[in-house]
Amino acid sequence: MGSTPSGRSREPGPRRRVIVARTRAELARALSPARAAGRRVGLVPTMGSLHDGHLSLVDAARARADVVAASVFVNPLQFGPGEDLASYPRSPERDLELLEGRGVDVVFLPPVEEIYLAGEPRVTVDPGALASRLCGAFRPGHFRGVLTVVAKLFGILRPEVAVFGQKDFQQLVLIRRMSADLDLGVEVVGAPIVREPDGLAMSSRNSYLSAAERRAAPAFQRGLLRAAARFRAGERSAAALVEEVRSAVAAEPLLRVQYVETVHPGSIEPMDPVPPGAVLALAGFCGSTRLIDNATMESA
Ligand code: PAF
Repeated sequence: MGSTPSGRSREPGPRRRVIVARTRAELARALSPARAAGRRVGLVPTMGSLHDGHLSLVDAARARADVVAASVFVNPLQFGPGEDLASYPRSPERDLELLEGRGVDVVFLPPVEEIYLAGEPRVTVDPGALASRLCGAFRPGHFRGVLTVVAKLFGILRPEVAVFGQKDFQQLVLIRRMSADLDLGVEVVGAPIVREPDGLAMSSRNSYLSAAERRAAPAFQRGLLRAAARFRAGERSAAALVEEVRSAVAAEPLLRVQYVETVHPGSIEPMDPVPPGAVLALAGFCGSTRLIDNATMESA
């Protein structure tokens, strides 16, 4: 295994047009022509195990940048004890094919030591109070790990723009705030949720679901759709909208809600009565797999 001086992959297998950089030095070489030409770099950070949702982020980056880089890195710092770091799905070869097929220019595929050069960082990014609610309340340390690795990726790749999925609503809000509050100079763009034909939000973790769980899982979105319909019909009570979701989910014995809340799209503060633009955010378990989804409330 290894790379040419340009960082272009030369391991056995298909010859690739995409540049695969596994080290910071290879990445710097891969991006230097674009930098020298003053071209805009768009970054799509991922943890791999890619699906169409990730590929839509690539399209969004392509629309806003001259050069598109994607990172594939399963970040240990954002997994809590007892979470799925060891079993998290990994498919780097397939990921490279998909990214190349979607026209990505550079893929950064670092080993853990290349990101955390001196082991676990002693200084990390504190997400503050925005991380104390929703997912943050159930996953202590998760957003500290996410923000720390995203800040490092911003520092290593120096993109002008970075794209994240709206499915990870709280993550998107926090990364946007981090870039603004710490003057990182990266425009943070949210891309719409991509769904399976039956409505289930695409997620790498959907691969954990058994056939029966997979059949049950779309009830999370069904609940959100019913609540959105009640909202369009004039319902503004948070409790009524939340109950709509809970009852749709309760109809599926394999599902369990962790939280459902109506929140402000920027501050994540609870909203009741619920105005247009508020986000109805949920997390729940399908068997032992934790899934998240959300919908923005829009008037008719
Ligand atoms: O959303 C993800 O896949 C990850 O949280 C991210 C943003 C790539 C950071 O590891």
